[in-house]
Amino acid sequence: MNTLWIPIPDPGCKQAIEQAAALLRRGGLVAIPTETVYGLAANALDAHAVAQIFAAKGRPQDNPLIVHISETAQMERYVRRLDPRALLLAQAFWPGPLTIIQQKAACIPDIVSAGLDSVALRLPAHPVARALIAAAGVPLAAPSANRSGRPSPTTAEHVRKDMDGRIDAIVDGGKSEVGVESTVLSLLGETPRLLRPGGVSHRQLEQLLGQVEIDSAVGAKPAEDAPVHSPGMKYRHYAPKATVILLRGDLERFLHYVKEQPEGKGVLCFAEDAVPPELPCIRYGGIARPEEQARLLFAALREADDRGIQTLFVRAPEQSGDSLAVYNRLLRAAAFREVTV
Ligand code: TXA
Ligand code: MG
Repeated sequence: MNTLWIPIPDPGCKQAIEQAAALLRRGGLVAIPTETVYGLAANALDAHAVAQIFAAKGRPQDNPLIVHISETAQMERYVRRLDPRALLLAQAFWPGPLTIIQQKAACIPDIVSAGLDSVALRLPAHPVARALIAAAGVPLAAPSANRSGRPSPTTAEHVRKDMDGRIDAIVDGGKSEVGVESTVLSLLGETPRLLRPGGVSHRQLEQLLGQVEIDSAVGAKPAEDAPVHSPGMKYRHYAPKATVILLRGDLERFLHYVKEQPEGKGVLCFAEDAVPPELPCIRYGGIARPEEQARLLFAALREADDRGIQTLFVRAPEQSGDSLAVYNRLLRAAAFREVTV
């Protein structure tokens, strides 16, 4: 398959948007920019088109997809009963990096929800994403546009590396501003439950809703027999080819530990860290700037592979607060390998 490259010089560029929308309406697969990461989109109401997403990504069939809409008013079409808390959340955080899970309406094919009776809805803030959904005239199912298990793409070029020849088109709308995927919040229970930390923080959610539980899978490896609320948290994820190891401790201990390790190593450090010049070093933002860390993280993991690093030692971020999203992604990239030094 020849993958079409569709540049969007500005979000008002109607012709390019219409070209991509037409592919989507015909059941095609199109990678689209969003403010979090690039998504691999298909018509969410077309089970056949959605099946192609799983095939192109090599995604496990039991991992449900997020459905993207272009207006809050569309939410009620896709849920069985609109939860009033969802409207509050939409007013506060949409368009933006928040995904809300409710009971699904019958029009959502089972393949989208991987057989669950719930649906995850998001209204993205990226103007190109919104324009595309509106032009397609259908909601778009879209996981991150990486091959399953790889770091999520934050540029169209990342998508090309993973998906060239496997999908119909890639829409280039520039860099993703947030850099990690949306916050996923379930409203299925009485108390809202955070399933995946992201661009909207736990603190922001609690300010609006009162108590919000954090699912146990967020900051740790889920136990084999634990109930699975978020299928996506089960898998090794976000991982470069390099082996990733998180090291918790100050810079001096970190460098001391890394020095003792065999050849082929590299480090993922904070902007301020003084690192010996002989050690291959990639930086992912300021030590006290979690938003910057999020923006740079996935590109940094891909860079580790481009530089042929075999084992990547990472200066671990805080395990809570605004750093939770970055920590959650790194912990999975590391397949839960974390060492206190
Ligand atoms: O920022 C994002 O959310 C990006 C952009 C493209 O919008 N999308 C994204 O999709 O990250 P994906 O498929 O990589 O991650 C979706 C997550 C998975 O962890 C999945 O298990 C969870 O959302 N999810 C989707 N529907 C669900 C449902 N009904 N119940 C529980 N978890 C659900
Ligand atoms: Mg993903």
